[in-house]
Amino acid sequence: MIENARPHAFESDEAIPLTSLVSTAAGALAGVTALPGDKSISHRSLLLGALAVGETVVRGLLEGEDVLNTAEAIRKLGATATRDGDGEWRVQGVGIGGLQEPDSVIDFGNSGTGARLLLGVLAGHPITAFITGDASLCSRPMNRVSDPLSGFGAKFVSREGGRLPLAVTGAVDPMPVTYRLPVASAQVKSAVLLAGLNAPGYTTVIEPEPTRDHTELMMRHFGAEIDIGEGDDGAAHIRLTGQPELSGRKVVVPGDPSSAAFPAVAAVISPGSEVTLTGVGMNPRRTGLFETLVEMGADIVRRNERTEAGEPVADLVIKAGRLRGVDVPPERAPRMIDEYPILAMAAAVAEGDTVMKGIGELRVKESDRLAAVAQGLTACGVSIEEGEDYLIVHGCEGRAPGGGTVATDLDHRIAMSFLVLGAASEKAVIVDDAGPIDTSFPGFVDLMNGLGADIKAGNS
Ligand code: S3P
Repeated sequence: MIENARPHAFESDEAIPLTSLVSTAAGALAGVTALPGDKSISHRSLLLGALAVGETVVRGLLEGEDVLNTAEAIRKLGATATRDGDGEWRVQGVGIGGLQEPDSVIDFGNSGTGARLLLGVLAGHPITAFITGDASLCSRPMNRVSDPLSGFGAKFVSREGGRLPLAVTGAVDPMPVTYRLPVASAQVKSAVLLAGLNAPGYTTVIEPEPTRDHTELMMRHFGAEIDIGEGDDGAAHIRLTGQPELSGRKVVVPGDPSSAAFPAVAAVISPGSEVTLTGVGMNPRRTGLFETLVEMGADIVRRNERTEAGEPVADLVIKAGRLRGVDVPPERAPRMIDEYPILAMAAAVAEGDTVMKGIGELRVKESDRLAAVAQGLTACGVSIEEGEDYLIVHGCEGRAPGGGTVATDLDHRIAMSFLVLGAASEKAVIVDDAGPIDTSFPGFVDLMNGLGADIKAGNS
């Protein structure tokens, strides 16, 4: 179900803002680089650290705006979060149920994950908090979490459709719930499990389609008991035993596969490239893009596979190659949900059609990503077909025409995707507002240019 389809924030006849960037094809990419820490895991390490007793030490935390907002949120709630060095953080937790009422509004900026996961935490605390965000976040549906969280006894007052700003008052005596996910969403699953931490007995999430399981893995790492069974219909039953004693832990955050996706696709589509991305998280619930690229003919090899703090990690060696269009199985969507925009860029230069179905969820991300990709590709001369929950890209079999100005709509992944397309386009690609890139991938432009890309300020 599409809960919210939004108009674009930028009209093409407006002036291009100063934060615009221009990406021009520059030939082969080469080099070895690490990626910023995984955004999903970073948020969870701070939140679970705040709910644990004692000190949590995090290495490799993503220091993008989204995660820094989560750090600020847990401080407002009475935990401490201290930065010791690059990606090195310490959190002093207050224990489950120990959060204090914040004395000012918690602003999550652009971050849906931060906001939704914290709402889960707050639902199990008898305090009132006010949550807001930027224009993108304030347009995204929160009722997908407030509905199940109401089952614990939490109360919400929000704008129409459950939108931010909203006020939440958590339950005094949270009641455990059993909740079947109506959408494949790790954020909703995680919000329910986080609320369940302070409810007695069992909180169960029934998950028909597997989504990223970082919350389950990290809750166990901190000492919670989670049992996973299978229902008659094959759905996973994820059962948390409430009111565990969580203890502070060491967390090593792997490189974010969703960030690795950008230099990876840039290397695949820039002839002659060979790039090694080190320490990339390879949780199987996150690797759908890499599988799809390999099916399209990409040369991606995993080296040095290992496990770090419970998460699989590998170095990826990526070489340029000719791609052919594929039909992406819709059931793969939850395992690559954030990667469709960048996959669409690979599809634009592939031979033949790439068919992406069952992706209506893209319409409620940081922007309406289906519309943003469709409009951006059209502006860059690539032919597409857009439906309510599908996108078909007719590949150019080589460089895309390019030459378009793309509206990023406060969406980091739209900005980065089209900058990657510029690396394989006849004419430069402009993105109107590169500011949102810092929410998830600080240093993106330097990293890409260090590999040989040509991304410059739009007004230079
Ligand atoms: C995330 C889950 C996904 C993803 C988001 C991060 C998470 O959202 O798009 O970037 O960390 O749980 P949904 O759960 O809404 O699909």
